[in-house]
Amino acid sequence: VYSLSMAMERTYIMIKPDGVQRGIVGNIVSRFETKGYKLVAMKTRMATKELLEKHYADLTSKPFFPKLRDYMLSGPVVSMVWEGKEAVSTGRKMLGATNPLESAPGTIRGDFCIEVGRNICHGSDSVENANKEIALWFDESEVLDWESHSQSWLY
Ligand code: TYD
Repeated sequence: VYSLSMAMERTYIMIKPDGVQRGIVGNIVSRFETKGYKLVAMKTRMATKELLEKHYADLTSKPFFPKLRDYMLSGPVVSMVWEGKEAVSTGRKMLGATNPLESAPGTIRGDFCIEVGRNICHGSDSVENANKEIALWFDESEVLDWESHSQSWLY
């Protein structure tokens, strides 16, 4: 029913401060739940400069980085780990393109925003980065291994 050959993955999804301020948290959680992914970790917290510099390590030299960092520090974020078949690539599809004007309608960014600097959510772009991001934002003990009874209906 739930076999390793199905490419079970964990992805790091983060709702950015505008998503929290605008009350879109429930909608985003609901999309991942009803898609069939399993919630294995979730918390609300303030990001820190240090966390963001690690999280966006490949972007710190970009001209937009200071604005990105200030935006990410402007309110709480919601950090989540979702698990399931091909969760990383499907999570990216559910988020939509980085620039919301290019995100397809039906995606989170396509439905809720218009500005690349206010694009509501983050999702890991590879399995390797997902594992790094999960380890960065969560303690090991916060990521739970629990049995969902819906799995035999999903897989
Ligand atoms: P990036 O990792 O390229 O995109 P994604 O979040 O889709 O993986 O960029 C990280 C964030 O930086 C992006 O979500 C929004 C912000 N950003 C800007 O503000 N301006 C830009 O020109 C780009 C490319 C990104």
